[in-house]
Amino acid sequence: MSNYQVEPAAQPQALSKEAIKSLRHEQVQGLSRRTLLRTSIGAAIGLWLLELGAGTLGFLWPSIASGNKSQVKIGTLPEIKAQNASLPIDQGFPAYYQNAKSFVMLIDPSRQQFIQGADPTGDGTALNVRALYQRCPHLGCKPNPCLKNFWLECPCHGSRYDRLGTKVKGAAYGPAPRSMDRFSVLVKDDQALYVDTLKITLGPLPVALGEPGVIPPKSPTGCI
Ligand code: FES
Repeated sequence: MSNYQVEPAAQPQALSKEAIKSLRHEQVQGLSRRTLLRTSIGAAIGLWLLELGAGTLGFLWPSIASGNKSQVKIGTLPEIKAQNASLPIDQGFPAYYQNAKSFVMLIDPSRQQFIQGADPTGDGTALNVRALYQRCPHLGCKPNPCLKNFWLECPCHGSRYDRLGTKVKGAAYGPAPRSMDRFSVLVKDDQALYVDTLKITLGPLPVALGEPGVIPPKSPTGCI
């Protein structure tokens, strides 16, 4: 007989009710799943609110920035032609005015004059002049007028508009959801054009190329 007495290995014991309860109330190390989920939802909502706020601010910025001086004088048609002598303004090409944050252009170049009156909708047909807000309705870049095709082309993601700011339907013409936005315009009795940067109208929905409402490009290729 040996002196050794073999001790049986410890048998696994079921946890008592008290032990389970205390484990539940114990502080979790690191992030718990619940905290992680709450943090992610909070961050997503915060990001969405931030985007919403930035979009609203971008849309209202011309109104906020201009304070009470909402009417910006651009001038008469002969003055606009003289100030942009290198551009075919008489053919309806857009002229850019940074102080009014807009592109202005003749609507019907066969009539070489602005018509006195006010157009709060920004359509401008009755006054024969339109002022487009300089921001692309997609994400806010500034489109450039292209001398080759007489269209406005956005360098950021390729949205293209005819010379009056009408967006052409289809992915090939870029991601902007609508035509360019328009400012209210006023032609006073001295034939001078004023752009009201406090009054902006959203651009209409895109129109298919070939349908009435879109001015075809002067050349099949553009500047971008
Ligand atoms: Fe003009 Fe995206 S900002 S196409």
